[in-house]
Amino acid sequence: QHDRAIRPDTLAEYIGQPVVKEKMEIFLGAARKREEPLDHTLIFGPPGLGKTTLANIIANEMGVNIKTTSGPVLEKAGDLAAMLTNLEEGDVLFIDEIHRLAPNVEEVLYPAMEDYQLDIMIGEGPAARSIKLELPPFTLVGATTRAGLLTSPLRDRFGIVERLEFYSTADLAEIVERSSRKLSIEIDPEGAAEIARRSRGTPRIANRLLRRVRDYADVKHDGQVTAAVADAALNMLHVDRAGFDHLDRRVLLALIEKFGGGPAGVENIAAAISEERDTLEDVVEPYLIQQGYLIRTPRGRIVTDLAYLHFDLSPSSTKS
Ligand code: ADE
Repeated sequence: QHDRAIRPDTLAEYIGQPVVKEKMEIFLGAARKREEPLDHTLIFGPPGLGKTTLANIIANEMGVNIKTTSGPVLEKAGDLAAMLTNLEEGDVLFIDEIHRLAPNVEEVLYPAMEDYQLDIMIGEGPAARSIKLELPPFTLVGATTRAGLLTSPLRDRFGIVERLEFYSTADLAEIVERSSRKLSIEIDPEGAAEIARRSRGTPRIANRLLRRVRDYADVKHDGQVTAAVADAALNMLHVDRAGFDHLDRRVLLALIEKFGGGPAGVENIAAAISEERDTLEDVVEPYLIQQGYLIRTPRGRIVTDLAYLHFDLSPSSTKS
């Protein structure tokens, strides 16, 4: 993926997330001043908001290497042990989707995080024995979509826990303009604002839509991205005025048309549109909830009047 070319390397270049940014500036500054590794850091939030980017910035700001892996890739305790024993002093070990670690792998992480000790069983049966290894001090950076997915012993071992929020349209517009400069795309402020408004508060989506709008501008026009060009391109991509994609609309319409607006359980909604429950909970719902189109109640999901309005429907005509 050539996203690498436009990713920020330093906290100063990182746009948005003012709350997280302010705290990380202090924690990184303090760790550097004391010449200690940064405390273990958990970053959570919906996909595409910059969890991996932030992990890379942490390593860069501390002047250390980053080793990257993910929960599902670490199948056996030995896989994690191999990563840990490859670290140099102060390095960042980044584990994406850390909530998907197998329990026996997670157990290896506890003494490693707490005492920089590797405690591992080798062999099987009567010949089995445990070995202890000293590890260099390091920083574990974990990323997950929802903090609630972690076991509490794991969550408790992170000294820094930061939640990434959806970006404001103004911050996304700044990101689109920055990416345009890096990619030599000619865009005016209104064009950037139009892409920003329709990117679900998510930089990864904004950068992807920017590339597709550029394609459209290059072929159908003279390459200049204006508001009108962005609007036409996004309509062609079926990204609607609210920035909803096909999946967002399917979820809202299923609730309206099949469940009388709700309440409906997430499992039932997923079945009705043949999607994974996790996709709905991690990817689709957070934005719909944040924007006020959907609410989560103890009895299930309900759409709001905003959702009916979005489809030019009246709540009374379809509610049971
Ligand atoms: N590209 C993707 N996310 C970004 C961010 N938060 N700041 C700057 N550039 C980005």
